[in-house]
Amino acid sequence: MEIIHVSAECYPVAKAGGLGDVVGALPKYQSDNGHIAKVVMPMYRTKFLYNHQWELVHEGEQLLGQQPFRYAVIREKTNELGFDLYLVDINGLLDREKVYGYDDDTERFLAFQIAVCDWLSKWQHLPDIVHCHDHHAALIPFLMKYGYAFSARLAGIPTVFTIHNAQYQGWIGWDKQHLLPAFDNWKWGMLDWDNTINPLACAIKCATRVTTVSPSYMEELRYAANGLENLMQYEAGKSVGILNGIDADVWDPQKDGLIVKNYDDHLVKEGKRRNKKELCGHFGLDEDKPLIVFIGRLVGEKAADILPEAIRNSVYQHRGAASFLVLGSGDSVVENQLEEVKHNMHGYVNTYIGYNETLSHLMYAGADFLLMPSRVEPCGLNQMYALRYGTVPMVRSTGGLKDTVKDFGEWQGYGIRFNHATVPDITHSVGRAIDLYSNKRDLYNWMRSYMMNIDHSWDASAEEYTRLYESIKNS
Ligand code: ADP
Ligand code: GLC
Repeated sequence: MEIIHVSAECYPVAKAGGLGDVVGALPKYQSDNGHIAKVVMPMYRTKFLYNHQWELVHEGEQLLGQQPFRYAVIREKTNELGFDLYLVDINGLLDREKVYGYDDDTERFLAFQIAVCDWLSKWQHLPDIVHCHDHHAALIPFLMKYGYAFSARLAGIPTVFTIHNAQYQGWIGWDKQHLLPAFDNWKWGMLDWDNTINPLACAIKCATRVTTVSPSYMEELRYAANGLENLMQYEAGKSVGILNGIDADVWDPQKDGLIVKNYDDHLVKEGKRRNKKELCGHFGLDEDKPLIVFIGRLVGEKAADILPEAIRNSVYQHRGAASFLVLGSGDSVVENQLEEVKHNMHGYVNTYIGYNETLSHLMYAGADFLLMPSRVEPCGLNQMYALRYGTVPMVRSTGGLKDTVKDFGEWQGYGIRFNHATVPDITHSVGRAIDLYSNKRDLYNWMRSYMMNIDHSWDASAEEYTRLYESIKNS
């Protein structure tokens, strides 16, 4: 089958979070399984762009409202990612350093989606499946079906839409309707949700199939979906939750070139000790104490707002028996509060405010526990990376965290789970972590090697996507 993934992110080209990891890995597994998997994404000004060779495959012109724009599609020449990578270049709109965060993001991603549809409609043959990810690619199923310029050629192609995060829906005021290419006006209701053009809702209505990135998240969205609960219930028949996998080549403690000492489940004790020594040495933390880390965006969904208080409280209540290291960026109030805790609890707490891929690998390898108190977690990849590196995940029971982590109090459990994103629940879990580390050493060692052998690679989930594609291919 030929599958086209459309996304705003793809690792290692451009990544802001887990979306990039998923779109950088799933197509690779699909290619390995004999499919033709292609990824098309915006051409940002990233290091990857300048370090690789490109060939021009298409040039075109389209309108964004009254404004004509030219676009080019370039292809990475060597296929080094294991799938075909295409970038859409739109001068002045997409070629920026960051992926998101600009005032004209609406215009940028609209133009991107229009260009993708235009390009696809010019192909000699047609792909079997167009697979769109999150709201930046969410208008494509609508445009393919009802956009006058595209529907004649593209309306028959089945589309899959994956919701990685329903908190962000890409809302566009109806006053910007003129930016959309001409479409069948009888279908305006497909665009609308609560008197706003809602790309996420539109994709849920228009795509042939809808997926979420874990089964539990699919369930949760029927009751809490930032306003889309009724829609998720209505479209339940065509929706399914498929758990993300991890790229087992990139996230492999035996081969990872970004860590100090490689290890497998037999050498986990020594391997982690060496990585922890490096980490603790660098951040001034005591390597004999359990090291608890947090890696992620400092936003409300991840419960980062309670992190400073939870860490402070844990250090006091447990008398400094554990060390904490936080890697992340986001809300500046949280960033400042974390810096304050670091300042006041020197030797117990440290932080790295910013994005640092290399440090994240060393932290998965060197930490003893990884904390994820998320309020919302559609899947979460960090906990799966932690499992692979023998780092015990401490997670709130929600979404994908619920689907991937079993509490050590249960039969063959290997993680720590708690119910509420609150300071008391986190503090209590920190106590359990300290107890496990200090007093239940045999169990702790067993858990580490057990979790390292759990297969969270994409093999099984890529198969599930294939079955989904097969079921709609000739529909
Ligand atoms: P989300 O996509 O919601 O942010 P995920 O758990 O799916 O959460 O994926 C987060 C990804 O981003 C992981 O690969 C994690 O290691 C990475 N990451 C998040 N914040 C940082 C950071 N500050 N530095 C390096 N990597 C980060
Ligand atoms: C989103 C979600 C995260 C998920 C990732 C990849 O960013 O917040 O939970 O793991 O997408 O699907």
